[in-house]
Amino acid sequence: MKISSKQKEPQYKDRRKANWKRLPLTKNEIFDEQHQYLVEIMVDLRHHIENKRSPEFIQGVLTCMEKSFLRYFSMQEHLMELAGYPGREKHSDKHREFVINYFTEVRNNLPDLDAQGIEKLIRWLATHIYNEDKTMSAYLETSNGAEQR
Ligand SMILES: [Fe+2]
Repeated sequence: MKISSKQKEPQYKDRRKANWKRLPLTKNEIFDEQHQYLVEIMVDLRHHIENKRSPEFIQGVLTCMEKSFLRYFSMQEHLMELAGYPGREKHSDKHREFVINYFTEVRNNLPDLDAQGIEKLIRWLATHIYNEDKTMSAYLETSNGAEQR
């Protein structure tokens, strides 16, 4: 039986959802939405790798993904600065380390990028949310609450 593209679509959406559902929640709606968006780009990238898209195409998706990470990190760093979050330098260092290490490594070894490489990326994000973003998010909530009183 031939499977039409319409029948494939729900499976693909389920795969995206299954991946972002694995992430810890920060309870900050904007952060959680951004994490979901980043995972969707990663799942898209994995999909394109598995479908053997051209290196130029993969490079384009990688660039889009890197820009999305940079924009998101920049927003977090701005909010940490505004709130005077004490852990902001350490947290920002984690962002910088990740961007430099991950994207440099991937670009230098683009033909080796596979589903496991994307899995590693999703695990990094989940760990970062659990170890850094949740704590920072809780601090921002408290500091915003204090300003409103
Ligand atoms: Fe972060």
